[in-house]
Amino acid sequence: MRDKRILLIIGGGIAAYKSCELIRLLRKGGASVTCVLTEGGAQFVTPMTLAALSENQVHTSLWDLKNEVEMGHIQLSRQADLVVVCPATADLLARMAAGIADDLATTLLLATDKPVLVAPAMNVRMWQHPATVRNVARLRQDGLAVIEPDEGEMACGEYGPGRLPEPDVILQAISRYWSAQADAPNGNLQGKHILVTAGPTHEPIDPVRVLANRSSGKQGFAIAGALAALGARVTLVAGPVALPTPPGVDRIDVETALEMQARIGSALPADAAVMVAAVADWRAEPAPAKIKKSAGRPPAIRLVENPDLLAELALSPTRPRLLIGFAAETEDVLANARGKLARKGCDWIVANDVSGNVMGGEANQVHLVTATGVESWDLLSKTEVARRLADRIAAQLGDEHAEQSH
Ligand code: CTP
Repeated sequence: MRDKRILLIIGGGIAAYKSCELIRLLRKGGASVTCVLTEGGAQFVTPMTLAALSENQVHTSLWDLKNEVEMGHIQLSRQADLVVVCPATADLLARMAAGIADDLATTLLLATDKPVLVAPAMNVRMWQHPATVRNVARLRQDGLAVIEPDEGEMACGEYGPGRLPEPDVILQAISRYWSAQADAPNGNLQGKHILVTAGPTHEPIDPVRVLANRSSGKQGFAIAGALAALGARVTLVAGPVALPTPPGVDRIDVETALEMQARIGSALPADAAVMVAAVADWRAEPAPAKIKKSAGRPPAIRLVENPDLLAELALSPTRPRLLIGFAAETEDVLANARGKLARKGCDWIVANDVSGNVMGGEANQVHLVTATGVESWDLLSKTEVARRLADRIAAQLGDEHAEQSH
């Protein structure tokens, strides 16, 4: 971030305190920071704190005539290389999406011609409200980058997505976004269609019972969201899970492996596919009516093998250029992953050890296995695994694009 000029807009939420640390990190990385504080933001951090940390004047009011003479709002936004909104409240997102300019922050955002990166933070219900989902999708369509909030315990005592990621994670997102801007189309998934499968499948035994597995769908949903955040058109074929659809993602719900197979077929072609679903390896031949206990002894359930959707896709004439599988293992993680890479004919395998509480949990430690080697990532939140993988996919599709045009 050396020598970059960041215009940092701080909205009114409890997470505003994290922007103080963000300023420190940005400056440590060599960037200069000019802060704009909304009226709400000033309830949580003071202009004095921000001025001291940024060593710059802090701007708060549109009607500060002195500023209009010395530095009009247009100029303030033009002098930046990048505009960062952190934290962005539900209200600020709504005003941005509607193009309202009723304070200094929103006026700058409407006047700027610079890339804008937004880090929302709010209560989980506000984040999942259809109005916010709509506003975030709108902002992404308008070309703004929106960082997915983290999931966890919130200041209000509730639990779920909506928390502002830690300042070092936001810093990484800013620098990745900056290099993507500077290096487009390499970091950019605009115009690309990506298929993601996620969640378990449920295979019926009779009209009321199913064979299921413990997949929560969280990792797959996070990947779909991270790809959409980079501008991809994402089709998410999801097994039965109770998760909200990430903003900007087209979701198709299915129950069984065979339904998933059919919906993948109709979603193709795609530039890349990320097959995260824990597809049931077997299905039962379901009984037409509920199996009764009164039958005497426990029923024998005859299982038939399900198609391997990943392996099928690898052989299909519409094989995506980049095909990524997941490997959930409880032992010999790397050896099994290498075996799956070869057997299933995909380009990358993201392997993880699921012997702990990965399934349903928030964190994941994965290995990216490719034909050329293995990269082991640290233990990260599923959201951060998703962001990193999305960046790698963008770089890979961008490199191929560059090779083709030479
Ligand atoms: N997969 C698939 N269709 C299946 C089974 C798995 O598309 N019927 C995909 C998964 O989405 C994942 C990869 O294959 O991307 C590996 O899944 P995993 O369950 O680890 O592998 P299996 O082939 O089921 O092997 P095993 O159960 O023997 O470990």
